[in-house]
Amino acid sequence: MTEETPKTPEPKKPEAAPQPPKAQEPAAGAGPKPAVPASPAAAKPVTPVVRPAVPVAKKPASAPAGKPAGPASPERRKFMMSWLSFAWIAFSAATVAALSTTLRFLFPNVLFEPKMAFKIGKPDEYDLGKVDTRWEDRYGVWIIRSPEGIYALSTVCTHLGCKPSWLENEQKFKCPCHGSGFYKSGINFEGPAPRPLERFAISLADDGQILVDKSLKFQYEKGEWTKPLALLPV
Ligand code: FES
Repeated sequence: MTEETPKTPEPKKPEAAPQPPKAQEPAAGAGPKPAVPASPAAAKPVTPVVRPAVPVAKKPASAPAGKPAGPASPERRKFMMSWLSFAWIAFSAATVAALSTTLRFLFPNVLFEPKMAFKIGKPDEYDLGKVDTRWEDRYGVWIIRSPEGIYALSTVCTHLGCKPSWLENEQKFKCPCHGSGFYKSGINFEGPAPRPLERFAISLADDGQILVDKSLKFQYEKGEWTKPLALLPV
C-alpha cells in the first residue's frame, strides 16, 4: 500500500485586483466625452515648462481703430511727403527772412554818394565857349570854358531840384519840370527858378588836372562868383 502523499495544497492564486469599472464609450455624437479618471500609473509628476515671455508688439498709436497697422500706401506716403516738403520750404523761407532782417540792423543806413572832390582832366581838354556835359551823370556838373576861365555849374535846378538839359541850338539850359531857362553862365532868365544855378569850387591840382570840389558852393545872388575858387583862370 502506497501511502498517499499528502498533497501539498497549491498556493492559492491571488485574486486579481478588482479592475476599475470600464467607462462605457459614449456613442458617436452623443455629446462631450466624460473626463477619464487618471489612472494611478499615469499620474506622473509633471515638470512645469517655463516658456520665455514673448514680447507683444504694440499697435502704433496712429493706427486707426479696427484697421491693422501696416505700411502706408504709396499715395498716402506721397501726400505726406509733399506736405512735409512744403512745410520745410516755408520754414526755410521764414528763417532766411528773419536772418536777413536781423542782419539788416547790423549795418547803418549809409547813402553812398559820388565823391565830392574829383579830377576832370587838364584845361586844354575843354573847348572855348563849349558846355561840356560828360560829367553831368557821374558827378552832376557841367564844365564851361569861357574867355575868363573855366567854371563848374551845378546840374540842379534852383526851383525844385530837377535836372535841366543843355540845348546847344538854343544856347541855354532848359528845365523839363516847369520850364525854367538858364544862360550858359548859369543866370536864370525864364520860368519859376528864383535864382541862378550854383557853381562849385574849381582849381588846378598838382598834377595839372582840374580839381572840382562840390563841398564848396558859390551863389551869384550872394556875390560869391567873384571869389577865387569860383573860377579857374586859364
Ligand atoms: S524844377 Fe526846374 S523849373 Fe521847376
